[in-house]
Amino acid sequence: MQNIKEKSSITIEFEQEVYTGLTDHPKHLSSKYFYDKKGDKLFQDIMAMPTYYLTDCEYEIFVNHKAEITELFSRQGTFDLIELGAGDGKKTKILLKELSDKNINFTYLPIDISENALNQLENSIKREFPKVKVQPFQGTYFSALEEISYRKNRKIILFLGSNIGNLEHNQARGFMKKIQQLMTADDLLFMGFDQKKNPQTILDAYNDQDGITAAFNKNILARINAEMGANFDLDEFLHWEVYDPETGTAKSYLVSKIEQSVRIGNLDSTITFKPWETIHTEISQKYDDEIITWLAKEAGLKMITSYQSKNNEYKNCVFNKS
Ligand code: AVJ
Repeated sequence: MQNIKEKSSITIEFEQEVYTGLTDHPKHLSSKYFYDKKGDKLFQDIMAMPTYYLTDCEYEIFVNHKAEITELFSRQGTFDLIELGAGDGKKTKILLKELSDKNINFTYLPIDISENALNQLENSIKREFPKVKVQPFQGTYFSALEEISYRKNRKIILFLGSNIGNLEHNQARGFMKKIQQLMTADDLLFMGFDQKKNPQTILDAYNDQDGITAAFNKNILARINAEMGANFDLDEFLHWEVYDPETGTAKSYLVSKIEQSVRIGNLDSTITFKPWETIHTEISQKYDDEIITWLAKEAGLKMITSYQSKNNEYKNCVFNKS
């Protein structure tokens, strides 16, 4: 009998979103699909770039405030430390070390869409912090929230790296509201928000000279090639970044340099591009106090404290249910 290989729900969702996005006007794809093994590596390279200040800022905040933060987390006894989009956990490990050194009882639940990133993270934590209990969960933010809702322990939810910035305000509001609905009175939500700043600093962070961000952006096309039998020529697309200092929205595009058509075998479709036609791939929203206050109010959250990096380039805010 022939062995029938079934498509996972993640594959089906990816294919549907690619079809919808590339047949829409204007074209778009979701940045959540940047992250496969190669994309994870490229994002790690981005975080190591001197121009990508976000990681350094959040790292600085954690180093400077780790005692206060872990005190705040452990004030009411044992808890689940749930991290949405854990990635390589570089910043979280500062807190894990502090909690472990203080012999605080908690379980770390890193959640990520990338199985590869999660495996690496789990192994490195077991090696570096043998006392810390880890329970990784692979899935989208949405499936993660469902998973969380079954757990009974007090929850401290981390949503770092300004990952919220990939969502438009209405989506961000909805997402924060969903988290709020899962929270009880003693739970905390700890989030990172990149701040509005000199527009040039932002453009430099998202458009490096070495082309790492360009390769990261184009990795979505590389994935479609590899996973859907497509023939995108990555050299015929340009990475383009814009930042609107009024709204605080940075947007990434892939721009077709020529008229071209691309075959996507698994979707049995041909996608055509006019010269300079765009695919919108990512937003990276920048925040100020007004926007954060609005989001929190809309989501039914109350800010209890916040920490900022030097020159207020980046902020971590802690919320509870108001
Ligand atoms: C991981 C979503 C926070 O938007 O700053 C980095 C991803 N994109 N460079 C961001 C990213 C281009 C990053 N986040």
